[in-house]
Amino acid sequence: MFDDSETNNPSQNPHFNATWQALDRRQAIKTGGLGAAAWFLAGPLLGCASVEKKQAPMLGFQPVPASDADTTSVPEGYVAQVFVPWGTPLFTSGPGHSWKGDGSESAADQARQVGDNHDGMHFFPIDGSSNTEGLLVVNHEYTSVVKGRYTTLFGAPAPALTAEQVDKAINAWGCSVIHIQKSKTGSWQVVLDSKYNRRITAATPMRISGPAAGHPLMQTRADPTGRSVLGTLNNCGNGFTPWGTYLTCEENFNGNFGTSSRSGADPRTPAQKRYGIPPGPSAYGWERYHERFDHQKEPNEAHRFGWVVEIDPFAPDSVPIKRTALGRFKHESAAWTLSRDQRVVIYMGDDQADDYIYEFVSDRPYRAGDREGNRQLLDSGRLYVARFDPLDTHGKGKGHWLLLDRDLNPRLRDDARFADQAQVLIHARLAADQLGATPMDRPEWVAVHPKFGEVYCTLTNHAQRTQVNAANPRTNNIYGHIIRWRETQGDAAAQTFEWDLFTLAGNPTLPDHAGTPRAGSPNINPANAFNSPDGLAFDAHGRLWIQTDGNYSNMSEYLNQGNNSLLCADPQSREIRRFMVGPRECEITGLTMTPDHRTMFVNIQHPGERGMGNSHWPEGGQALPRSATVVIQKIDGGVIGT
Ligand code: FEO
Ligand code: CA
Ligand code: CA
Ligand code: CA
Repeated sequence: MFDDSETNNPSQNPHFNATWQALDRRQAIKTGGLGAAAWFLAGPLLGCASVEKKQAPMLGFQPVPASDADTTSVPEGYVAQVFVPWGTPLFTSGPGHSWKGDGSESAADQARQVGDNHDGMHFFPIDGSSNTEGLLVVNHEYTSVVKGRYTTLFGAPAPALTAEQVDKAINAWGCSVIHIQKSKTGSWQVVLDSKYNRRITAATPMRISGPAAGHPLMQTRADPTGRSVLGTLNNCGNGFTPWGTYLTCEENFNGNFGTSSRSGADPRTPAQKRYGIPPGPSAYGWERYHERFDHQKEPNEAHRFGWVVEIDPFAPDSVPIKRTALGRFKHESAAWTLSRDQRVVIYMGDDQADDYIYEFVSDRPYRAGDREGNRQLLDSGRLYVARFDPLDTHGKGKGHWLLLDRDLNPRLRDDARFADQAQVLIHARLAADQLGATPMDRPEWVAVHPKFGEVYCTLTNHAQRTQVNAANPRTNNIYGHIIRWRETQGDAAAQTFEWDLFTLAGNPTLPDHAGTPRAGSPNINPANAFNSPDGLAFDAHGRLWIQTDGNYSNMSEYLNQGNNSLLCADPQSREIRRFMVGPRECEITGLTMTPDHRTMFVNIQHPGERGMGNSHWPEGGQALPRSATVVIQKIDGGVIGT
């Protein structure tokens, strides 16, 4: 999708420096009552010449109003088709060949049906270029639980959790690889019984590779080698590679570990606390039936989760690989680009309040056409974490990539907690703390501009922030923001960058927000206001698609914002318009397109997540709510967004 040969050279862009110089945000933040316009960076970070040549407006659709209806809405001239909801059969015979409608499927059925809580997703054209046939790979992040009860997975909330139910949950997590085809009538269908159809679950055998593979901290009783593990967990955001594989990112794995053997004092190590492993029972209850999820009985098992996992969707028998060189934290997404010398660079957020943004740079260059050789690139490279420095006297934001390498960085070498590089990677958060990385307002997805290489990252919210820093300028940041940076000289392998804030979400419809940071930045207009940006993706034309996972109460601070939504931004003008609204209590996530951009796939995750019967999407009536993909096309067959 990206054409990296067109990477812009910022030194040729006079608008860039001019943009930065007129600013003194520190002063403006101190005097926050002056209003958003006074402290928001104005003007484009992008190179301008190519953008100004564009013929049609980037945002060609009429914005969709906010809504709290239990349905999806898309702009006039567009249609939305519900596709591959949770429980969709992938095969015509054997376990799971039909969806019963009431959630009564067994664990064995679920292992062969589409999983729950769709999240990150990527469309791989079957032949590398098809717009009508391909493999849709979908993350299934988790399954909804409220107060210890699974709300939808078994139909009605289950009073006591059985081993069979835990195994069904295990099989509802992970990923689906789904062979899909566009019919002559224009709708998309599953190619049932395709050799490519595959479920990867929280019990699928996987290989561990890279510097931490085999390390004593990765060894368990079931796997004394420390090189093989069952399953992938909390597959949140995603990425893909230029060699045509899928990257699934393990986020809140801590929630799957608990212990039933606690007696008295908190049994956790500092590292277990830093990663949020709970001191007692887990919310999902898996440790009751599978000892490996009990962190007191098998303390190393949790070290085998929290990684980026590579899956080859075109090889149905292939073993997924956990790439430890990319570090262990609560991975949101993984966005690749190439450095000037063709090394693979992957940007990644760690979604936790006050956690960090990371970058991996491969040791060796990408070589077009060498698929097997390229796959080794993710096993050897350097991991960095971002420090966003305060604005300088010229109003410029500078940043540094801090090297998480035990042998090359004395601050880690002299720290007894890191005896070797594997320990730096396994406990990347602790190493990043040591280096003084910038605590962020929950880094979610990262996206790289397809032509100019600027990198954007959603910072979804951080209501507990009491101390601001330049990159996270609001206390009690309930609305979230989007930051962006450009590496020095436009080279992704650079170790320094310049940054600004692309938008500060807010609610300008509330009169008492006028003139305060809570109104958001000037590109937040009342009709399109939103909170909690999360999913983020550029299309090949440079439209920035923003997906929200926030407060959908439509009340008080969130009045007039409705259900979670999908918005589209023009990076140059900074205009943001609402493109789609989801059903009740969902989040919108996982955006991908066919190469011609005439079909868009978007995920609706956890409609009715609170388990109170507020959503029956997509079937309506009294049906169980189901996470699903939505396929969006233009009635005239045009490019999405025009
Ligand atoms: Fe799974 Fe940070 O969202
Ligand atoms: Ca870099
Ligand atoms: Ca997310
Ligand atoms: Ca989120």
